[in-house]
Amino acid sequence: PYVVTENCIKCKYMDCVEVCPVDCFYEGENMLVIHPDECIDCGVCEPECPAAAIKPDTEENLDQWLKLNADMAQIWPNVTIKRDPPPDAKEWDGKPGKFEQFFS
Ligand code: SF4
Ligand code: F3S
Repeated sequence: PYVVTENCIKCKYMDCVEVCPVDCFYEGENMLVIHPDECIDCGVCEPECPAAAIKPDTEENLDQWLKLNADMAQIWPNVTIKRDPPPDAKEWDGKPGKFEQFFS
């Protein structure tokens, strides 16, 4: 499957939900995740993310994100409709340490 990674946090552009053919995005307060059992690996969401936060699980060093996507997809609600991103999305784009700040 594809995986949502750190740069989604606080950017949350939501362009990804509009293109997913199987509606497998789930929404937390600060980011979205992909349900690993529902994603069909089509890849169309990856280039749509303005924050480049979506990666194929074949990339290295994604263990932390694979786990977070799998765990949170069980808990967070499904989301299929794009809303506006947070007003300060641009300021958070590329900021380091977002995971530590918001998930620990
Ligand atoms: Fe949806 Fe395809 Fe992205 Fe998987 S790779 S989350 S199926 S758009
Ligand atoms: Fe996040 Fe990118 Fe979607 S910032 S909400 S993965 S378009």
